[in-house]
Amino acid sequence: MPQRNVIYRQREAGRPLTDLSDYRRAGGYEAMRKVMTEMDRDEAVYAFVRSGLRGRGGAGFPMGRKASFIPKDSPLPAYVVCNADESEPGTFKDRELIETNPFQLLEGITIAGYAIGAVRGYIYIRGEYEHQARVLDSAIAQARAAGMLGTGLMGTAFDFDITLYRGAGAYICGEETALLESLEGKRGQPRLKPPFPAVAGLYASPTLINNVETLAALPPIIENGPDWYAAMGTEKSTGTKVFSISGHVMKPGNYEIVLHDTTLRELVFDIAGGMRPGREFKAAWVGGSSVNVVGEEALDTPLDYEALAEAGSSLGSAGCIVMDDSGSIVRSTLRLASFYRHESCGKCTPCREGTLWLERILQRIVDGEGRMEDLELIESLAGRMGGRVLCALADTGILPVRSAIRRFRDEFVHAIENGGDPRPEPMMEVAVGG
Ligand SMILES: Cc1cc2nc3c(=O)[nH]c(=O)nc-3n(C[C@H](O)[C@H](O)[C@H](O)COP(=O)(O)O)c2cc1C
Ligand code: SF4
Repeated sequence: MPQRNVIYRQREAGRPLTDLSDYRRAGGYEAMRKVMTEMDRDEAVYAFVRSGLRGRGGAGFPMGRKASFIPKDSPLPAYVVCNADESEPGTFKDRELIETNPFQLLEGITIAGYAIGAVRGYIYIRGEYEHQARVLDSAIAQARAAGMLGTGLMGTAFDFDITLYRGAGAYICGEETALLESLEGKRGQPRLKPPFPAVAGLYASPTLINNVETLAALPPIIENGPDWYAAMGTEKSTGTKVFSISGHVMKPGNYEIVLHDTTLRELVFDIAGGMRPGREFKAAWVGGSSVNVVGEEALDTPLDYEALAEAGSSLGSAGCIVMDDSGSIVRSTLRLASFYRHESCGKCTPCREGTLWLERILQRIVDGEGRMEDLELIESLAGRMGGRVLCALADTGILPVRSAIRRFRDEFVHAIENGGDPRPEPMMEVAVGG
């Protein structure tokens, strides 16, 4: 099944592009030259819109539209913020890009900065990505030394620099407004929206915030033209997408594919090497952990935003976790519920209390102390959380729990009737492939 390396230019080049000279030899910084010497700001934003690029951090919001929301007449400086928090379970695509192709990200951030007239870019990277932070530090220093960051970029009057900021390892700091709070040196808790960051973001200034992969898509879009990008995929799901695939597959890893051209079955079996010998596919959390879990009925779904939504799940951050028939849905649902309980920032009562109770009820089912009414109790509890909170942690954190009980109800009933579920947690197993 074809893979297409548009974001992962390093794979196309066949080597890591951590030296600026290597990146330039692979065509790097041509897009920045083009945008700054041949296009004005509006034309650049229009190119983003026309490409159909949607945010790759999870919500899938059109990137160009977001850039067009940045007010042009604000007396305040504008900023670009790159979300490199990458804490969604099963998602590790940004890490590989940063490690092996950091200049494509820096170039993308600078192009976005030019398009919205920003004065500075920030990269907020999760604290655990220590090596990746060092790679970025070195890339920023090289770009500065070569005049790719700083004043008068490409001989124009545009000045722009990038600051790297390391988080302290909290999932909630990937939520864009909590990230901004943290970047400002405050406790990382989400803000009430509106106002949205485009209007009042970092230091209450207009701020464009995008995921690593979203920003890294800008150089190829500018270089090859938005129509070239939009020609890949479908009308609403354009371009390529990197899927991180993990769990019970023979070849876990990152794979970049054209949206819609590949089905879940092809991703799991042809690209990621399929199940271990003697095992059968059971379930997948296709878009990271904050989505509905699906079973084999979803295997022939094309991987794009609309088709996955129609199949009852979502593309999310494309961190596809796969489970074979040896795994326990009940235990992994408990594992995910524990994660959301641990990561809840505690600001809203339904989330703070609800995630705790979901974990407790699931724990007693696993331990053999569950009651049949617990399944309805979980449904009702989740129903009281969704839509009553400040951010999507709780809204989407209930999805893997609810969907598991709906789709794999027999496993929960079995655990309740048979003294619990002693099988191991599949997510704690070591990857088997190469
Ligand atoms: C709890 C939570 C965690 C999130 N974590 C991340 C993350 O690690 N990386 C990311 O890019 N977006 C994350 N998001 C989504 C961001 O809030 C935001 O939508 C995204 O950075 C926008 O960029 P995009 O439009 O390019 O996707 C998270 C959202 C929530 C609610
Ligand atoms: S939903 Fe949860 S994580 Fe989000 S702001 Fe409320 S308490 Fe915090």
